[in-house]
Amino acid sequence: MSHILHIDASPRGERSISRTLTKEFISKWLQAHPQDTTTYRDVGQFPLPLLNEAWIAGAFSKASTLPPELTEALRISDELIDELLAADRYIFGIPMYNFSVPAHFKAYIDQIVRVNRTFQPPQEGLLTGKKMLVITTRGSSYAGGSELASYDFHEPYLRTVFGYIGVTDMTFLYAERLNEGEDARQQSLMQVRRVMQQTVKTW
Ligand SMILES: Cc1cc2nc3c(=O)[nH]c(=O)nc-3n(C[C@H](O)[C@H](O)[C@H](O)COP(=O)(O)O)c2cc1C
Repeated sequence: MSHILHIDASPRGERSISRTLTKEFISKWLQAHPQDTTTYRDVGQFPLPLLNEAWIAGAFSKASTLPPELTEALRISDELIDELLAADRYIFGIPMYNFSVPAHFKAYIDQIVRVNRTFQPPQEGLLTGKKMLVITTRGSSYAGGSELASYDFHEPYLRTVFGYIGVTDMTFLYAERLNEGEDARQQSLMQVRRVMQQTVKTW
């Protein structure tokens, strides 16, 4: 039995393809694993606050108890990290924006990469034993060998930053070429749904 943390990062609602795909995947997953439980967070439509001076002072403080204003500045970060620690599996729907993750997801990352909570300096990640599945949507294709392959700062960034906090088991599924005409889009969606069917069996 697993506990799954499901996060969507698209600011779009019904029209979001990443959101549609994570929903389909979770629904198939729960059919196959009815005992599993989920926590849902929508950082796309309910953006998280950006870090501020109080957050930084609190996160790097060496004091054993923090003054109330610094505790308050870290409240959301603590909540998000508790969610990550409580889950065994992560399912993230993250579109590509300007060759990387949307600012919505970067704000999430800034809240959860925290000294003594998710990593220990210089390089010990504390989120061990977790499995992470990213469903990513893109307007073009960044497949190996393609013209745009070197523009992909999305998957390499996510692999690096989640690797840094201890996640080593990562799977990426792509819906690409979504803005290259109806044929390319339909073909890509068919293909990612085929891969999702397989992934439900093997993940
Ligand atoms: C602000 C913005 C930036 C985007 N940047 C890229 C990009 O750099 N590369 C790309 O292939 N597609 C890009 N796209 C296309 C999206 O990745 C694509 O529309 C995707 O379906 C969005 O995810 P969603 O459907 O879940 O909202 C961008 C879209 C938006 C709105």
